[in-house]
Amino acid sequence: MKYATLFLIGLLLSVALLSDAQKQSGKTKGKSKNKVLQRAVPCSSAKCKLPDCRCSDATLPRPKFKGKENEIPQFVTITFDDAVNAVNYAQYELLFNGVSNPDGCPATGTFFLSHEYTDYVRVNALYNAGHEIALHSVTHGDGTDYWRVADVETIEREFGQQLKMLERFAKVNPKSVQGMRLPFLQISGNNTFEAVKNLGLTYDSSWPTQQHKDPAMWPYTLDYLSIQDCQIGPCPDAALPSVWVNPMVTWTDTEGYSCSMIDACVYPPADNVDALFDWMLENFNRHYQGNRAPFGMYLHAAWFSRGRNYFAAFKKFMQHLTTYPDVYMTGVSHMLEYVKKPVLGKPFKECEKKPNSTCLPVNCNVQKVSTGEVRYMSACDKCPTVYPWLNNPLGEDM
Ligand SMILES: *[C@@H]1O[C@H](CO)[C@@H](O)[C@H](O)[C@H]1NC(C)=O
Ligand SMILES: *[C@@H]1O[C@H](CO)[C@@H](O)[C@H](O)[C@H]1NC(C)=O
Ligand SMILES: [Zn+2]
Repeated sequence: MKYATLFLIGLLLSVALLSDAQKQSGKTKGKSKNKVLQRAVPCSSAKCKLPDCRCSDATLPRPKFKGKENEIPQFVTITFDDAVNAVNYAQYELLFNGVSNPDGCPATGTFFLSHEYTDYVRVNALYNAGHEIALHSVTHGDGTDYWRVADVETIEREFGQQLKMLERFAKVNPKSVQGMRLPFLQISGNNTFEAVKNLGLTYDSSWPTQQHKDPAMWPYTLDYLSIQDCQIGPCPDAALPSVWVNPMVTWTDTEGYSCSMIDACVYPPADNVDALFDWMLENFNRHYQGNRAPFGMYLHAAWFSRGRNYFAAFKKFMQHLTTYPDVYMTGVSHMLEYVKKPVLGKPFKECEKKPNSTCLPVNCNVQKVSTGEVRYMSACDKCPTVYPWLNNPLGEDM
């Protein structure tokens, strides 16, 4: 996405989040012809039990952890959205290379991929390095309206076909793909989460919360009615068993505005390493010194180009996190495994197995059918015939 567009979206989003008095009412209906869903009822912890059900109002992984908050492992989920290309891949490598968690396992992040301009050979490299590969749609859509009214079929097409592309062009095992994030964070009520379920995914991570940042919200399931504030509606209110929401707990910028993603913060600090670092630490401490809810660092690589010191500050902060005995940087899905079976102290018995997926890189010049432009694309093993797109995800001769 273009820098200017991103900034504008950030601005709009922050303004929307600020004015929570004018709650969005979520009246827009998707035109889905799905079977009738049950309306969700308020959650009762007696009925909703781990590992498959978790109430949205539970502020600790287990009630009995009360008073032992500082023994709860602190997860940090670093996620990047949009296309992976040669330039941002180099940045991702610099950020994560050689960084490990207290258990000696490598620090990893989650990449929410959209298709256009994505370099699938580099996606394969991220995947083999142990990062989580997740979905952000084929087309990225044409603004928020497309997504706000998207029915279940549209969402399934956009995300299901991106999954097919990742399997074919980046040799990603589709079973390892568990999550998605909507472009512009624009969910469409029940439809989004019904699609999550139909696609066989575990979670969505598109829903920001401003009201539940202190104590911060933990991930939860939609078996029962969510208490989360609806900042960019429509939000779901159907019962969708075992569908996980990884809420985007907002950051606070220097003027006190909430931001769902780091690059949506309208008033970040001055462009110097210490100021940026201190600001990250301040946001982190709300979690670390609080209920230890996972701390999300959600951004686009384009943020690193916004100031001379942004990248260095981010790297310094990641380095700083490695000095804690109880801070774990993992992908969202790995963090969710912990949330399903939470313990005090060390969260996992062993490291995640790294995939070993062989990719023979090929460079392809293929035509984008809708516009006639020639697109450059790198992929594993074999070029498609035309540039892959929605309704032709493998780029076959039609
Ligand atoms: C979600 O589904 C419930 C239960 O069928 C329904 O009452 C509600 O209106 C739906 N919400 C949206 C935003 O479509
Ligand atoms: C990965 O698989 C290839 C062949 O399938 C094998 O030669 C190689 O040793 C494996 N590498 C690792 C690290 O397991
Ligand atoms: Zn995006």
